[in-house]
Amino acid sequence: SMVDRRTLLQAGAGLAAAGMFPGAVRAQTPRAEYNLVAAIARSPILGERRPGTEVWSYNGSLPGPDIRVRQGKPVRIAVRNGLSEDTTVHWHGIRLPNNMDGVPGLTQRPIAPGETFAYEFTPPDAGTFWYHSHSNSLQQLGRGLAGPLIVEEAEPYPVDRDIIWMLADWRLTPDGQIAPGFGNAMEAAMSGRVGNTVTVNGAISNGEQVHAGERIRLRLINGALARIMALRFEGHQPVIIAVDGQPCEPHQPADGRVLLGPAMRIDIVLDLQGEPGRRYVVRDDFYEDLAYTVTHLNYNATSSTRAIRDDSFAPLPGNPLQEPDLTRAERHQINLQGGMMGGGMMSGMGGMSDMAHDASWSINGHSMTGDGHANMPPLLTLPRGSNIMLTMHNQTAWWHPMHLHGYSFKLLSRNGVSVPYNQRGDTVLLAPKDAVDVAFVADNPGEWMLHCHITDHQVSGMSSVLQVR
Ligand code: C2O
Ligand code: CU
Repeated sequence: SMVDRRTLLQAGAGLAAAGMFPGAVRAQTPRAEYNLVAAIARSPILGERRPGTEVWSYNGSLPGPDIRVRQGKPVRIAVRNGLSEDTTVHWHGIRLPNNMDGVPGLTQRPIAPGETFAYEFTPPDAGTFWYHSHSNSLQQLGRGLAGPLIVEEAEPYPVDRDIIWMLADWRLTPDGQIAPGFGNAMEAAMSGRVGNTVTVNGAISNGEQVHAGERIRLRLINGALARIMALRFEGHQPVIIAVDGQPCEPHQPADGRVLLGPAMRIDIVLDLQGEPGRRYVVRDDFYEDLAYTVTHLNYNATSSTRAIRDDSFAPLPGNPLQEPDLTRAERHQINLQGGMMGGGMMSGMGGMSDMAHDASWSINGHSMTGDGHANMPPLLTLPRGSNIMLTMHNQTAWWHPMHLHGYSFKLLSRNGVSVPYNQRGDTVLLAPKDAVDVAFVADNPGEWMLHCHITDHQVSGMSSVLQVR
């Protein structure tokens, strides 16, 4: 039983500490264990020389600690709530049992202040995932409750270094504190709360130190509330090897930019063939007029002794996902509706109050609000084991990264053009008016959220639940 095993482990740990069985405990540990404490902390977002920013974080660090687990190996993560309000944690992109999915009121009772809840699951897929609060999401995610979750492949991918860049976007006041005003209705009806400060791994970045001649794997995670990013690597050619944790055929992005909607992850391989001693800019030019430098690649003065291997990039090993059978697929239309008309960042300022009034978001005419509380019947009920094809049609003037919990879908086509390179995802970014077809086998029972990951949109109506039973 659980108790016996725990007692045994404690006993084992004691013996190992006494030096009686060196190394024995690690080998026998049946699962990885992590503890997270959600609490208020101070973090040097603007650098060590500035007073810290008050954030809500896991274990006092921004982002939360890297959780690294092995594919197919059980993990237990005990989350203690040190906040003064309820919380939950969602393991974004992991295919796990529904009661471990972290949606308050839908998949679990929220974790009250002072309480601890243990999440236990066995990740079937290797890849780059992340975790974040799913309670009072605008504030809890917007104040920092998020971190990287890496599921390691059995054999490490052949690169010199494996690097995580968890990107986040903050709206800071001049004195470096998080600006109030979460959930502003006008913003919610447009692009959401886009901030003024982008960080890499919790702080404004001075650049990544690299050596000429290295090949690196860069795991990009967009943990922003609302900011869509399109990264350009000056002087370098990124090769995409995975999208949302799922391997794809290695390829260069069509326009050279790595496009990441909120919640998306893209793993790239970079061959570092720049000049020693030089620095290269990494820019985000998604909002063209507002392009800015995210960070730099800072080359050491000396090159590494290692030579670039060759120009070919091995694909990652596949994950154990069922291939949907499109000939038998049940088809459903998901229409994204609402928001203000006019797609510019701040266009259509005239008649704002009228427009804001009926600007709430909806899916197929229903506006489910909040973090996922079961305040609406499921949008769809899908028979367990069936092949499902969803056509998501963005009928609005705004971009939406649509996320399905508990699944990884296959990206079939966008506006009638088939999606190349065998890409999958749990979050698909739709430009205004886009129609995207995705498919999956409904093999994971439960109630799963399908929502926009621009958090303002999610909590003001662009949410729904798909029930699989
Ligand atoms: Cu990243 Cu509903 O989640
Ligand atoms: Cu949206």
